[in-house]
Amino acid sequence: MKILLIGSGGREHALAWSIADSPLTQQLVIAPGNPGMAAYGTLVDIAADDIEAICDYAAAMPADLVVVGPEVPLVMGLVDRLHERDIPAFGPTAAAAKLEGSKEFARAFCQRHKIPQPAFFPVDDYATACQHIDALGDCVIKADGLAAGKGVVVAESAAEAKQAAKEMLAGQFGSASSRIVIEQKITGPEASLFALLDGENAILMATAQDHKRAFDGDAGPNTGGMGAISPAPRLSPELENEVMERIVRPVARGMAGEGMPYRGVLYVGLMLTADGPQVIEFNCRFGDPEAQVILPRLRTDIVSAMLATTNNSLTHFDMRWDSRSAVTVVIANQGYPGAYSKGSAIKNIEAADNQNDQFVFHAGTALDASGQLVASGGRVLAVTGLADSAAIARARAYDAIAKIDWPEGFYRRDIAAS
Ligand code: GLY
Repeated sequence: MKILLIGSGGREHALAWSIADSPLTQQLVIAPGNPGMAAYGTLVDIAADDIEAICDYAAAMPADLVVVGPEVPLVMGLVDRLHERDIPAFGPTAAAAKLEGSKEFARAFCQRHKIPQPAFFPVDDYATACQHIDALGDCVIKADGLAAGKGVVVAESAAEAKQAAKEMLAGQFGSASSRIVIEQKITGPEASLFALLDGENAILMATAQDHKRAFDGDAGPNTGGMGAISPAPRLSPELENEVMERIVRPVARGMAGEGMPYRGVLYVGLMLTADGPQVIEFNCRFGDPEAQVILPRLRTDIVSAMLATTNNSLTHFDMRWDSRSAVTVVIANQGYPGAYSKGSAIKNIEAADNQNDQFVFHAGTALDASGQLVASGGRVLAVTGLADSAAIARARAYDAIAKIDWPEGFYRRDIAAS
């Protein structure tokens, strides 16, 4: 098969690695990709949100399957445009991707289908926002639309919540925050569950827990994720079943019933509250860095799983996983998630990658004019260790990091430490 993969982050590197390993893959092209992915396919310089150029390229290949990694092209309707041209694509349509693209849509959908979640109030004016904040006390403020992972404030006080609401409604994230959702704050351990949905049926993939804050001890600003562990330590098989029955299957049935069948990966962000698992958010794609910790555990051909998803035949699909644990640690550019400089040299990755169950996935990397690998983004590498226990997997990830020569990078020392 000829496969076109869209994206350039660590998640897409992990996807490229898995797709290239499939016996079904004859040709893999990645748009735009990163230097680490060049080992698995041909990179073409088309941005992930250039919908027309991607469709034209896929038609010319012709692609047997287009795999869409990031949320932006999914929410923009890339899969719809590909379907219009009879090109098979893995990922939800724009209507289905609204589960991530609009927090208000997702909350109202859960309410219609009795899916457990906190109380919520969508608003578009500051005075009403303040009334809800005062009534709720502890609350979470969310931009309705996509905000590159920055549109959520878990407020420590009413004053902080009001400030966040004010800034968002004033256009902090452009039209993505012209409406906001004010939610009751719920407490408990967080975990994520990934499922495949074929428009009707849903099967469990795997679980993970990420670490969103920039610094050790869960201090500092929120990031896209500084590391992750899989399986999620606190999601027992019983809880996994409960999440599938009370959340994931109702989503599959509900979306189909409302004429928006969901096909693709559903990433369910969960809070394990005293009253049971509740939905924090849905994402319409693999997580990043969760893909880098989940996919090394996958023992089933990923392309077959994607085809079963797009062909509505997941019911009897047998997805197998390595029972071992995986831990991934992100190495980020100094300054991330704020401003950072680009162009510092990264050396000795070869010594850390693909040995002793250690894997290095590139994200914000580039080659300079001399061919030297340099940092070009905020999150730059994700280093994964796989082992019989979480403790050894973690030691493997940190052991691999110690071999990488990039003094300008920083990473958390406490990923999967407890
Ligand atoms: N790691 C969080 C996300 O992918 O949204």
